[in-house]
Amino acid sequence: MIIYFSATGNTKYCAEFISRRTNDPHTLSINDMMKDGVREIDCANQKRLGIFVPVYDWDMSYAVAEFLRGVTFRNVPNDCYIYGIFTCGSASGISCETLKSILAEKALNLSASFAVAMPDNYVLLFPQKSDDAKRAMLERADIELQEVVNDIEAGNHVFRRKGRNLPGFMMFIIRKFFIPSQRKVKGFTVNDSCIGCGLCAKSCPMNIIVMKDNRPSWTEDKCACCLACLHRCPKRAINRGKSAKNGRYLNPNVSL
Ligand SMILES: Cc1cc2nc3c(=O)[nH]c(=O)nc-3n(C[C@H](O)[C@H](O)[C@H](O)COP(=O)(O)O)c2cc1C
Ligand code: SF4
Ligand code: SF4
Repeated sequence: MIIYFSATGNTKYCAEFISRRTNDPHTLSINDMMKDGVREIDCANQKRLGIFVPVYDWDMSYAVAEFLRGVTFRNVPNDCYIYGIFTCGSASGISCETLKSILAEKALNLSASFAVAMPDNYVLLFPQKSDDAKRAMLERADIELQEVVNDIEAGNHVFRRKGRNLPGFMMFIIRKFFIPSQRKVKGFTVNDSCIGCGLCAKSCPMNIIVMKDNRPSWTEDKCACCLACLHRCPKRAINRGKSAKNGRYLNPNVSL
């Protein structure tokens, strides 16, 4: 079984790739489970459980970490091979340690974890890479993913990361100040090109966007900062931070 969270498609692409190549057809979207308030996942007869999550702020997505903390994995076989896959622009940080500790609270062990570098979707501060650079990254990711398939099929207990970790005090500052500011929704703006299609509200895993008079309105400071609303808007009408000049990204090889 594979469960995955994805806002702009990279992690969904990895989930589909690994599902196909390891003959593991049972995939569930964490975005949908978050939206629907799912609290239990039945893992009966699953020889593997893959947990696929994007890296935010040198750690796994905090909203997905919260979801995983609150969910009960039922009927996990004793010999189930549980692995994490973290997609990132360049650095996976402490994602593996966080997933290990979430599973340990449930008396489950992480057997392996992998990091895959893919185009970075964080446009609030940084500009998008050129199209050629993004294409080259996606081609490299396929090679890395095949190596991951080989490790999974061999049942290897390996923990592969990307990039350097931040010093502890920097992680402290990120947790204490940066993440709470990311949860706030007051930075979102909507310009006049909005056509009222409602896709932003539909794609928000936290259910914090409602349509009012055919325009999106953010309701609670519970943002996952996944940027699904911003990148998936067909009119590029939503902005936050420096996104208006930094471009947009959607993985070209999956449907969202
Ligand atoms: C809020 C936020 C923070 C991010 N932080 C990091 C990071 O610390 N390190 C990194 O390499 N990539 C970072 N990224 C880039 C994403 O991890 C990367 O683009 C990921 O593949 C997106 O997955 P998705 O397309 O499945 O949503 C960040 C993206 C967002 C939105
Ligand atoms: S997705 Fe874009 S165009 Fe559609 S309602 Fe939201 S802001 Fe408007
Ligand atoms: S408001 Fe936008 S960025 Fe925040 S959780 Fe919802 S879709 Fe993600």
